[in-house]
Amino acid sequence: MSILEKLPPLVTPVEIKNLKKQLADATLNKGFVLQAGDCAESFSDCHSDSITSKLKILLQMSLILLHGLRKPIIRIGRIAGQYAKPRSADTETQDNITLPCYRGDVINKPEFTLEARTPNPDLMLQGYQYSALTLNYLRALIDSGFASLEHPENWNLDFVQHSPLANEYQAFTRSLGDTLDFINTVEGLRTSSINRVDFFTSHESLHLLYEQALTRQTDPNHWYNLSAHFLWVGMRTADVNSAHIEYLRGISNPIGVKVGPKATPEWLIELIDILNPNNEPGRLTFITRMGATQIEKCLPSLIEAVQAHGKHVLWLCDPMHGNTQVTEQNIKTRHFSDILCELEKTFQIHHQLNSHLGGVHLELTGENVTECLGGARGLAEKDLTRAYKSLVDPRLNYEQSLEIAMLIVRQIGAAAPHKSNPKD
Ligand code: PEP
Ligand code: CO
Repeated sequence: MSILEKLPPLVTPVEIKNLKKQLADATLNKGFVLQAGDCAESFSDCHSDSITSKLKILLQMSLILLHGLRKPIIRIGRIAGQYAKPRSADTETQDNITLPCYRGDVINKPEFTLEARTPNPDLMLQGYQYSALTLNYLRALIDSGFASLEHPENWNLDFVQHSPLANEYQAFTRSLGDTLDFINTVEGLRTSSINRVDFFTSHESLHLLYEQALTRQTDPNHWYNLSAHFLWVGMRTADVNSAHIEYLRGISNPIGVKVGPKATPEWLIELIDILNPNNEPGRLTFITRMGATQIEKCLPSLIEAVQAHGKHVLWLCDPMHGNTQVTEQNIKTRHFSDILCELEKTFQIHHQLNSHLGGVHLELTGENVTECLGGARGLAEKDLTRAYKSLVDPRLNYEQSLEIAMLIVRQIGAAAPHKSNPKD
């Protein structure tokens, strides 16, 4: 920690304040958040192709959303630091051997040996270095115009060409011209700035020793975590008395809390009072992850409590973590239709309560993996082993991710326009 504490920050307070301002806009329904990336990044995956394809899928999705939703899209990667994982079990048993669970590359290694699974503090230093390498390349790609619409080769749709989505996507790219015209008219977006899109980083604030070492006092009143723009606390560490909530209370970054099916309105209001006592829009995001079968039962009373207390909260839907299942072959997966179902229901519930869903939180990759079932190509259980690469949770692949972006647009388009609630 004493080494990490002296190393330079990865992001700046100016960038963080910029994100907070954009999240405040999204809280007031003037923006939509796309937060997405790996469940767990791995050091061995820190290379040019993988970083490029993650940026590419996020930018393509954000363009679909921008085009369809007609409002600024705030892009936040689960990237450049998503290396620590909460686990449901402490140990894992294979062939009668029991070892500690893999907890993310910043803590131990995934191989099933005692040496690999023994936590090693040097990995924190490596985590910092891989985060810096990833962020450096992301910044370079963005600065050199990778996101530019004037480079159509970057938007080629090799994989999608073979899929049932091809026509829809091609129609979309043909209408990109309209989008460019439109972009000129959207507040905060100019054609010139599309060449230098804003792209923010985030990770779960789980490994508090690491987070603390990257937390710096920037003036007498503010401490910032300068390892990422946005930090969230996972469902398992979000108790109001937890060290993780106490840590988040003290930093000025925009923060998120995962909200699972056991959440109560009282817990939510207490959390808001602890984490956002000044009711500042953009400071606090709730990321709901109930599961498709639970969402209708769990979400309405939470939204109503926030409205009744007049609190500013940005709501995101994570339709991944409540819909994880294990196949007979013991492979962790998620069904595309469950993901979509939770997303659709979440949109509808917010709409019915005169609230609004301000964005989505997804686990995805730009690669052609086979980790989630279903989607336009109808991936089946037998396909899962073909290209299953995730070390922890199953991710949407490139095509499934584009499909989700298109379905979000349809879903919002289908909802009748509504007046924004002064309380939300
Ligand atoms: C995650 O985001 O990878 C995660 C573990 O989420 P949750 O805390 O919601 O289970
Ligand atoms: Co996950």
